[in-house]
Amino acid sequence: GGEKPLKGRRAIVTSGPTHEPIDPVRYIANRSSGRQGHAIARALAKLGADVTLVSGPVSIADPEGVKTIHVERAEEMRDAVLDLLPADIAVMVAAVADWRVATSSDQKIKKQPGDAPPMLSLTENPDILKTVGHHAHRPTLVIGFAAETQNIEENGRSKLARKGADLIVANDVSPESGIMGGDRNRVKLITRDGIEDWPDMDKNSVADHLARKITQMLETS
Ligand code: C5P
Repeated sequence: GGEKPLKGRRAIVTSGPTHEPIDPVRYIANRSSGRQGHAIARALAKLGADVTLVSGPVSIADPEGVKTIHVERAEEMRDAVLDLLPADIAVMVAAVADWRVATSSDQKIKKQPGDAPPMLSLTENPDILKTVGHHAHRPTLVIGFAAETQNIEENGRSKLARKGADLIVANDVSPESGIMGGDRNRVKLITRDGIEDWPDMDKNSVADHLARKITQMLETS
């Protein structure tokens, strides 16, 4: 209880996209802004947690009261997260690229007149949430996000099981929702006990409510 109910608790938060290099000047990325993940890191710190944020490339400032580690690629994010274990809480918010270029080029790929466009061969990236959810030093609470454009509840439930998570925060990232890159979010919380449907809120409010929810879940775990 009290004002700093998470005092003495260690939390890891991932946020932002990852950039997967094609060559030294080109990369594959996605539309994640990092706003929701950064807000969650700050909200946990406000409740007294010792928070380390592992952030992919974003254009927003490092949150106050939080130690921030900057990474580019999914593999770097995975290594940084695993180095931070053990922890009490892991909240994986980053939009990690599912695939990276199998063999990125050390040199800029040159466009030669008459040449066919290069073929990019992709390979799967490590699943950081799943790795943490099944780790020998698994945090007490493992939380993931599910950015979906359809079958949100169903996909969230299967994700909870597959990733070894305690809570999946599912949101609708279809372009009409304006959530990806936007200021607001509307989430459903999926646990083994059921589903909570939260109203539309700004991302800072979602973060504050989630930090409270995390506090409750830790107290009853
Ligand atoms: O499988 P999917 O990408 O939909 O899962 C989303 C959740 O898993 C998010 O919490 C995201 O941060 C996490 N994730 C991850 N590493 C990946 C892919 C997703 O940590 N390679």
